[in-house]
Amino acid sequence: MALSGDPHFKKLVEWHKANSSKLVLRQLFEADKDRFQKFSLTVNTDHGDILLDYSKNLVTEEVMKMLMELAKSRGVESARERMFSGEKINFTEVRLFLSMFFPLSCAYIFILWMFMHLCKRSLEKPYSNCYSEIVRSGEWKGYTGKAITDVVNIGIGGSDLGPLMVTEALKPYSKGGPRVWFVSNIDGTHIAKTLAELKPDTTLFIIASKTFTTQETITNAETAKEWFLHAANDVSAICLSYVTESNSFLLFSCFQWVGGRYSLWSAIGLSIALHIGFDNFESLLAGAHWMDNHFHTAPLEKNMPVLLAMLGIWYINCYGCETHALLPYDQYMHRFAAYFQQGDMESNGKYITKKGARVDYSTGPIVWGEPGTNGQHAFYQLIHQGTRMIPCDFLIPVQTQHPVRNGLHHKILLANFLAQTEALMKGKTAEEARKELQAAGLSGDALEKLLPHKVFEGNRPTNSIMFTKLNPFTLGAIIAMYEHKIFVQGIVWDINSYDQWGVELGKQLAKKIEPELESDAPVTSHDSSTNGLINFIKKHRA
Ligand code: F6P
Repeated sequence: MALSGDPHFKKLVEWHKANSSKLVLRQLFEADKDRFQKFSLTVNTDHGDILLDYSKNLVTEEVMKMLMELAKSRGVESARERMFSGEKINFTEVRLFLSMFFPLSCAYIFILWMFMHLCKRSLEKPYSNCYSEIVRSGEWKGYTGKAITDVVNIGIGGSDLGPLMVTEALKPYSKGGPRVWFVSNIDGTHIAKTLAELKPDTTLFIIASKTFTTQETITNAETAKEWFLHAANDVSAICLSYVTESNSFLLFSCFQWVGGRYSLWSAIGLSIALHIGFDNFESLLAGAHWMDNHFHTAPLEKNMPVLLAMLGIWYINCYGCETHALLPYDQYMHRFAAYFQQGDMESNGKYITKKGARVDYSTGPIVWGEPGTNGQHAFYQLIHQGTRMIPCDFLIPVQTQHPVRNGLHHKILLANFLAQTEALMKGKTAEEARKELQAAGLSGDALEKLLPHKVFEGNRPTNSIMFTKLNPFTLGAIIAMYEHKIFVQGIVWDINSYDQWGVELGKQLAKKIEPELESDAPVTSHDSSTNGLINFIKKHRA
């Protein structure tokens, strides 16, 4: 059934229409001293705790109850069971969908097998001898016999964003591993600038693709090969088999059921294992597995991914919010929002229900964000005083990787994190602003003119997600938490979160246009805009 026809949804919408003006966060906090206890959830793991504080949301116990009833009526629990039993749920593409849900069962065994399979020497100590460790230890050599210092992951979309985000986030865990580079864009600048930093005999290329049909990846791989052969001058120095002595290009195939945007847990995560070591990679998988279990077994009311998902439904489908900001207060997580831009928008950017009808409600939000505190000095103005409501997730580790100046930097970072969510919640009343202006010596006309600009409505919703430290386990758990959130929302909206046909049309047209760019003859076969643009290129290219 479409969401709009669900009686629980109708009830929620009615309630929102009648009561939302009464949801004033300042008052809700003042009226209930236990609000934080009621609307927060801490999970404890052996690698640190994770706290989700959702008390600064425009909800009451009654709203949360209705949201959980809606989740039940949409079949979230049974969908969760079906998913964990490995049922085929991506029905518009010929592939099973299992990857994100079985990091330790399916994908994990696969990657473990893969790494083991790649062991060149003894298998007695499997982990220390797996492929990533052979490269990291220097045992695996480039074509002149030197150890590998740099690894280039050539891939795009899910074959780039996940490994890129994770290797950036876990840089402090690399400890002597090779540097990793990522080439994704077909824009020649990307590969040219990367190759300019590298030496062919100490560089290992990973061609990461699920399909090996992606134009950007294949073209970049061919360019890298050309560059490599220009130096090595010997085609036998390139070997795609995993068991030869000198090997500079690796092709890893990835099971077709591994969805691209969930593929970092699979062989696509090789660059991660090379950078942080296999032990740490295992810990990342274990963290994801921990969150899988939490999602699978926790009741909906105490289930982090479900809570995040249903709060999102509340804002998107009742308040009409269009975007959702991910704001990590950790410089290492600077690609986190970009990663979940694909994770969320490619999954739930759909207007067709599973039955093929057009939805009459909004689905996936526009996901965006930047690390704090940089964002504060860029776009937070609009979050605080703009005309739109933008629900935000603030994320921060309590412990920093770099306690610079005795922890001063991190103390300031934490204070900013806390201040932002408090300010967004409380705002500043006209009365408070007036007092401040008076204290600053303003009065009369000057004060009245300035006053409206100094008022903050507040009542802007945020989630705070705090964790002990950004380590591989916790990162794995947080990634899985958002993956499951996306899954739950897809179930509520009754859409297929696992295909991405929307990206195909542009690819098809690009293939048609490319040969038309060959000659200088003007083109007339398209609409006047596209013709005009093509002909401008032809006139102005060197
Ligand atoms: O174009 C979208 C997409 O199919 C993504 O889903 C995927 O992550 C990316 O392209 C790369 O695909 P592949 O791994 O097959 O090269």
